[in-house]
Amino acid sequence: MNTTPEVMECLDDPIDLLQTCHEKATHFVSLLEKLQRYLRGVACPDDPAVETALQLMRYFDRAAPDHHADEERDLFPILGATLSATTDLQALMRNLSDQHRDLESLFAEIRPWLVGIVNGDVPATPAAQISAFTSLYRAHIQIEEAFVLPVARLHLQEMDRIALARAMALRRRFDQALAIENRMEPHS
Ligand SMILES: [Fe+2]
Ligand SMILES: [Fe+2]
Repeated sequence: MNTTPEVMECLDDPIDLLQTCHEKATHFVSLLEKLQRYLRGVACPDDPAVETALQLMRYFDRAAPDHHADEERDLFPILGATLSATTDLQALMRNLSDQHRDLESLFAEIRPWLVGIVNGDVPATPAAQISAFTSLYRAHIQIEEAFVLPVARLHLQEMDRIALARAMALRRRFDQALAIENRMEPHS
């Protein structure tokens, strides 16, 4: 199996990769708003709209949950153990984990709209959910970049970085393997 550039990135500096994930998430959050504006008053989506809807589903179905898992299953526990984290940081990390569930639930409410677009319709726009999702995502990233990533950069030891990098690379390799397996399944 070939190793994707994203898997290789994990092996360099995992904190840099988390930062890159935030840049990608910010890009896709803006793309979601752009698609909403593009389809205003449109009855039938064109090819670029369909392609954008597909890209958004690919990102928020797989890459975004991987990033949430990187933080919840690996970064936050490593930080908690390394710093015997202050109660403030522990509470913040618990709150950020809860926000991951909120973001995933909001996306689940937006997803049928994207599926409809891919199928050639423009269903009623879930405007309230899109607005809540994009606001929460931006605020969430801002908090992590202000309070979590700087602490990680400062305090994670080499061994912690290696453990984090390995976990992130393994998660993406597993996803790659799963995607290949799904493509190989016979169509009924
Ligand atoms: Fe997060
Ligand atoms: Fe994050």
